[in-house]
Amino acid sequence: MELQINHLIKQYECSPHNQKKGREQTFVLKNVNFAVQSGELIGITGISGSGKSTLLGIIGGFLKPSGGLIQLDGDDIGGFSETKLAIFHRNRIGYIPQGIEVLANLTVIENTAISDSFVQHNDRKNTGENRAREVLEMVGIAKLAGEYPDVLSGGEKRRVAIARALYRDPDIILADEPTNDLDRENSVLLINLFRKLVKDGKIIILATHDNENLDSCDAVYRLDDGKIFRMKPFESMVLDETSNPIESR
Ligand SMILES: Nc1ncnc2c1ncn2[C@@H]1O[C@H](COP(=O)(O)OP(=O)(O)O)[C@@H](O)[C@H]1O
Ligand SMILES: [Mg+2]
Repeated sequence: MELQINHLIKQYECSPHNQKKGREQTFVLKNVNFAVQSGELIGITGISGSGKSTLLGIIGGFLKPSGGLIQLDGDDIGGFSETKLAIFHRNRIGYIPQGIEVLANLTVIENTAISDSFVQHNDRKNTGENRAREVLEMVGIAKLAGEYPDVLSGGEKRRVAIARALYRDPDIILADEPTNDLDRENSVLLINLFRKLVKDGKIIILATHDNENLDSCDAVYRLDDGKIFRMKPFESMVLDETSNPIESR
């Protein structure tokens, strides 16, 4: 499995209010290029607002790119039909969003297996209660399976969101600052779990500010001014100098 990002551009539509004020149309991602293979944990860092969440959203097919290609084994994710995208989300992507999104009226285990309530075609066999318990065990909150979210700490809710992302055994895990509400011990446990999952052949892309997390990544990229720089193994701008995708559009 290989994920390739080539000349990725993202520009958000400005609100009419901003346009009236003459605010420049901003490119959040100007020319982002990198590749990830099975078995790699990739760190994405950069200051707040540098486009980390945008990048993860585009790779997951939740946001449309304004230009460029995001290819998974040669298939362009940005060009997927709605149907193809639904299958892609269902079976291949595990997304841990930056905010915590647990549903208050469902128990921990129900929150974990929530995809079962809207996935009709169960084309992956290993789901159901045993699988839900297994992923809750992986993130260390199996004993909370029957609780409702109102008795959980922020870190425990975060781990429910992580368990939910792992439930359908996705090939690609997109983790948006997943350790923000975790203490050091649980951050280390999560990164160790990520290392184990990549050893099994997953791709994990981790947006984080945490240097200890970044130390555990196979490669680290930094977003700055819409461009991407490789920090590890060495610092360099990852840019194809032969073309400027924004000017050539
Ligand atoms: N839906 C949106 N509409 C307009 N601008 C957005 C939207 N989402 C994010 N942005 C802007 O894009 C930039 C990058 O945001 P984001 O990807 O969330 O960065 P990060 O995750 O690195 O903090 C920010 O300037 C943010 O304000
Ligand atoms: Mg973000």
